[in-house]
Amino acid sequence: MGAISLPPGKSGSDWISDIEHNGFAVIDNYTELPVSLQLLAELRAEEDEFRKAGVGKDQDYKILHTQRGDYIKWLEKDPRRPATNEYLDKLNELRLELNRHFYLGLQDFEAHFTRYPEGTRYVKHVDAFSTDDNRRISVVLYLNPSWYPGAGGTLMIYPPNKEAVSIDPIAGRLVVFESTLEHEVLPALFERHSITAWLLRDLRFF
Ligand code: OGA
Ligand code: MN
Repeated sequence: MGAISLPPGKSGSDWISDIEHNGFAVIDNYTELPVSLQLLAELRAEEDEFRKAGVGKDQDYKILHTQRGDYIKWLEKDPRRPATNEYLDKLNELRLELNRHFYLGLQDFEAHFTRYPEGTRYVKHVDAFSTDDNRRISVVLYLNPSWYPGAGGTLMIYPPNKEAVSIDPIAGRLVVFESTLEHEVLPALFERHSITAWLLRDLRFF
């Protein structure tokens, strides 16, 4: 199956109808360049504290470098990172907006900084676990100011019975998709940075 490249992302409320009809939406310039750069700086300042991300949950949790190459740090509000704090507020607004449109009753969200070292990937998967479907909507904000076509790191989304969609991880681009959709991150030529989040049906326990 071939892949289509998306036209420049939507703004305004078009993204709501994209989610309704396709299960995903791409919003370009969700954060303006100076904000994306500030978020990237806040991420980089803490990169030493990132941990290797795993695959699966609880007893199934494994670190499989070949399947998933990223390093992460979970986020809470922290005075060291004003731009990230504002972004967390925006994620909460996004949660409320989706609840208004789709009556999803999403009660919480979780988010982490993400770094894929050069050459790493995340093989095809879904974000809603078979044993835990609390994750309803996946939201990724990309923070790569000098990305270009051909640099890899492309997010592929595989909507059922439709052509695959390829989305490059350019700075300020926000991707919102249903967490049951299959997707993957292709190997990147360079380090790839983002903030990854999930809107949750139930409250987190921690
Ligand atoms: C994930 C994921 C997509 C991306 O972290 O589960 O699929 O484009 N991320 O970073
Ligand atoms: Mn995923």
